[in-house]
Amino acid sequence: MFDFKDQVVIVTGSGSKRGIGRGIANMFAEAGAQVIIADMNEQGCKYTVAEIQAAGYKADGFVLNIADEDSVNAFVKNVKDKYGKIDVLVNNAGITQRVTSRYDACRYEARFQRQHVRHFPYHQSCCRSHEGKKIWSYRQLV
Ligand SMILES: NC(=O)c1ccc[n+]([C@@H]2O[C@H](COP(=O)([O-])OP(=O)(O)OC[C@H]3O[C@@H](n4cnc5c(N)ncnc54)[C@H](O)[C@@H]3O)[C@@H](O)[C@H]2O)c1
Repeated sequence: MFDFKDQVVIVTGSGSKRGIGRGIANMFAEAGAQVIIADMNEQGCKYTVAEIQAAGYKADGFVLNIADEDSVNAFVKNVKDKYGKIDVLVNNAGITQRVTSRYDACRYEARFQRQHVRHFPYHQSCCRSHEGKKIWSYRQLV
């Protein structure tokens, strides 16, 4: 249905075995993309990469901490050096936590802050590396 042949697609948070990002990465790989598995969990990165490659599709893994500017800049440089371009960003990395009836507004706000890992510096770094070319970006921009 979708054709992402030769598109370089980065999916953050795709190193979780039960996660949404892993499913998204598999979907883009099946559509022909060169998928970049980017997660702070190195073992998880390896797992998703192996799964996609075993199915005959293209994936590469990079350890990335979205919340760390040095990690972000090194990651963007490494991807750009290796693949020459970035076409699509899927900003999925985050922390899922249940809200319970014991939460008050303060605790809820703290949870929200933790859960929504800020993707803006990462997004900015990807765009700057790309000299004005359009990059499609999905979800959690800030
Ligand atoms: N599962 C749900 O019901 C649900 C509902 C609404 C929103 N979400 C959001 O969807 C996204 C994925 O959810 P999930 O259930 O697949 O979560 P998950 O915990 O299974 O996977 C999240 C992945 O993000 C990675 N990650 C966390 N912080 C990171 C960082 N700073 N840098 C790089 N990687 C980081 C983790 O290592 C993990 O592999 C999250 O952003 C979550 O907040 C999930």
